Amino acid sequence: MITSSNTILDAARLRQDFPVLQQRVHDKPLVYLDNAATTQKPQAVIDRLMRYYSEENANIHRGVHALSVAATDAYDAARERVQHFINAADTREIVFVRGATEAINLVAATYGRSTIGAGDEVVISEMEHHSNIVPWQMLCEEKGARLRVVPITDSGDLQLDAYARLLGPRTRLVAVTHVSNALGTINPIEAIIRLAHDRGVPVLVDGAQAVAHMAVDVQALGCDFYAFSGHKVFGPTGVGVLYGRASLLEAMPPYQGGGDMIRSVTFERTLYADIPQKFEAGTPNIAGVVGLDAAIAYLSDVGLDRVAAYEHELLAYGTEALSRIDGLRLTGTAQRKAGILSFVIDDIHPHDIGTILDRDGVAIRAGHHCCQPLMARLGVPATARASLACYNTREDIDALVSSIRDAKAVFA
Ligand SMILES: Cc1ncc(COP(=O)(O)O)c(C=O)c1O
Repeated sequence: MITSSNTILDAARLRQDFPVLQQRVHDKPLVYLDNAATTQKPQAVIDRLMRYYSEENANIHRGVHALSVAATDAYDAARERVQHFINAADTREIVFVRGATEAINLVAATYGRSTIGAGDEVVISEMEHHSNIVPWQMLCEEKGARLRVVPITDSGDLQLDAYARLLGPRTRLVAVTHVSNALGTINPIEAIIRLAHDRGVPVLVDGAQAVAHMAVDVQALGCDFYAFSGHKVFGPTGVGVLYGRASLLEAMPPYQGGGDMIRSVTFERTLYADIPQKFEAGTPNIAGVVGLDAAIAYLSDVGLDRVAAYEHELLAYGTEALSRIDGLRLTGTAQRKAGILSFVIDDIHPHDIGTILDRDGVAIRAGHHCCQPLMARLGVPATARASLACYNTREDIDALVSSIRDAKAVFA
């Protein structure tokens, strides 16, 4: 428990809201430390999904009947909630998608295809998730454009000087992660955006690992696009958000064609709907959107500033505890970090660590974390990663440490 801004976050109480966390795994209490992969869902989200399917299920925007009106109202209210959650200027700037991956692909396929040509450059960083690499690579290949990569330091900080030097007359877009899923680095997004905007270059921020852990204000950041996934912010899978500056979204061609994204259709010509509907072809994940609404309501109630302060303290506790284990090396020791503890241990493969920890009921992730170029940069094939959420406690860290010591004993 910590006190911050005169408020207290009681994680032990918070975790009572999450049914999954109450169970035992391999006859041990579950210690869930794989939150960067996906977060658990509070009862409020589960109940909301139940209520939607039990009482409100209908297609949106099409019916005059009561259920359709209720479903449409719930869907529209969720858009408003998301707008306030990230402080967008307008609900029209919130596009519902499948997740961060689809949000980035949408921008690559529409903004990218219509503005980037042969010889142009897209700037990303060495710490990007594959979902913020591959769409740009595909675009560059199609257009004869060039992917430029900002290097990181050994501790996992983005090299801002090198970034500034990479920005040139052919730079058309910067796409960078807010928080690294593999290192925990919190990037200096404001500075990254300022340097790009000085040269008239728009910036997409991959916020998949940020929104559940800190207050995000897209207007204060000044970003042009911001992408995140519902399932990493205590909401359902299969739903996510693309924030886009209205003027950019308006100028972009549609992503997919179909129902709901049109104003009128004839065989000769289609007029597209206004934003954001222009980018939401077909029946969307209505239940997912409604569930995301409940998740954001829940998290906002807890309070992002309290979450950030609490996780900061827990990260410090975890960093200190892991640093005391002989032969364990933390990968990702940036100045500003969110709750990611990535590590390698002499002579033990991360997958073996993960398997032994699982026997103790401790759920972590082992692998390349969809960051193969980053692993190559770090000179490791994989890492073990414990990732925190606001329901984790010091007891979870203690269980992690004790289980790692067991793993070391097995391999000694
Ligand atoms: C930094 C980052 N970006 C993007 C993604 C992709 O998210 P999703 O698979 O939900 O689309 C992830 C998922 O792990 C991530 O960590």
